[in-house]
Amino acid sequence: MYLGIDLGTSAVKTILVDGAQRVIASESRPLTITSPQSGYSEQDPTQWIEATFATLDALKASHGNELAAVKGIGLSGQMHGASLLDASLRPLRPCILWNDGRAAAECRILEQRWPALRAVTGNKAMAGFTAPKLLWVATHEPEIFAATRLVLLPKAYLRLVLSGEAIEDASDASGSLWLDVARRDWSDEALAATGLSRDHMPRLVEGCAPATTLRSDLAQRWGMVRQPVIAGGAGDNPAGAVGIGAIQPGTAFVSLGTSGALLAPTSTIAANPDRAVHTFCHAIPGMWIQAGAILSAASCLAWAARLFGVTEAELLAPLGSHPQAPSPVSFLPYLAGERTPHDDPVVRGMLDGLSHGTDRAAIVQAVLEGVAFALADCRDALADAGIVITEADVIGGGSRSGFWLAVLANVLNVPIHRIAGGETGAAFGAGRLGRLAVTGEAIATVCTRPQRIETFEPDTGLTDAYAERLPAWRELYRPRH
Ligand code: XUL
Repeated sequence: MYLGIDLGTSAVKTILVDGAQRVIASESRPLTITSPQSGYSEQDPTQWIEATFATLDALKASHGNELAAVKGIGLSGQMHGASLLDASLRPLRPCILWNDGRAAAECRILEQRWPALRAVTGNKAMAGFTAPKLLWVATHEPEIFAATRLVLLPKAYLRLVLSGEAIEDASDASGSLWLDVARRDWSDEALAATGLSRDHMPRLVEGCAPATTLRSDLAQRWGMVRQPVIAGGAGDNPAGAVGIGAIQPGTAFVSLGTSGALLAPTSTIAANPDRAVHTFCHAIPGMWIQAGAILSAASCLAWAARLFGVTEAELLAPLGSHPQAPSPVSFLPYLAGERTPHDDPVVRGMLDGLSHGTDRAAIVQAVLEGVAFALADCRDALADAGIVITEADVIGGGSRSGFWLAVLANVLNVPIHRIAGGETGAAFGAGRLGRLAVTGEAIATVCTRPQRIETFEPDTGLTDAYAERLPAWRELYRPRH
């Protein structure tokens, strides 16, 4: 029996997976974000611990026998967040999250200070990444910076509480801007450019390697017969890749979670930092992931549901199963700024083309199309790095909407596949990493591809209509800096 724990942005999800890779049980607890100022996004790390413990306490109550047999645990986590700990390993302030835009000026300072940044980290310095946040803290909260002994990404903080050890995996570490992605090790120069050193960093392991074990008191609390091994785990996107067996070149996929991404596993680094393409180490050795990342995807639909005061299902129902033509309305999904391709934390969303005749359905369709167009921008940025996408599986909560997947197939002009278990991709991938860390099985044996349950083929009439729309949609973007 294995556990996959995904520390997401809107919830912690914990799943219990058996030896035949069946999900036996799943528990989730919501998380809240605070935004003390516009463009800020923070979370109290204590919330992550309480939510994770609540999922495990609930699993003990409902599936005590299965939980008792857990041998391995894998962690997946929202990437890039900066959790600053003092000498007693207590959080000094709320974690500054991946979608926080405050550190734009610090990105420019970092690139000036260390001109090799893009070459070594494979990434452009962008506000959501971890290193510029530390520069921001050094300037604006110098007493907190001075007291900082350890900087951990969200799931490494969770692992510290679960095990007592500070350990990070190479995939999540790639989102810090402190990693030399080719060597899969911390870069001393990158750390020095932020006023830090290796002493402030956790130990690094590969995602599928054993990292540590669960504390004995916690193993007892959850009735486990042994102290399970905790694997290196992965950032949520690489964990999602493991969950759907995207471990070879040519297995690109789309993630439609709170954020969105178009991700392509590669066996060599194919970086394109100038167009804000992300370079991550994969959660398995010798592989990388090149990704276009957008800051708002399914969260745009959640926003629309709040705006209209209905559920997301109620919003989607009137749209039917697939679009007949592009919506007359256009939507820029930049509700939290954008990374790929603009790297613009201050731009905001837009609705264009409203008329007296505009109804709710036209706006909702425009929202889904806007996210799809943003992913087309990601596709083009990846194409500039030589990565051509010919089809894509979809993971994340957004994959529940067939209408959205049909829009994606037509906007990207490639077949889009709905897959079994696509909604729990990252937690499932984490569970697989937990298993690999215990059994040492061949990666390809465990990381098989899920069953494709539905394929959305592009439809020529619609692909032409969307291709005509794309340039006009792009024209709506006006940089605000
Ligand atoms: C990826 C990114 C998000 C977060 C939260 O670069 O910022 O996908 O990992 O899910």
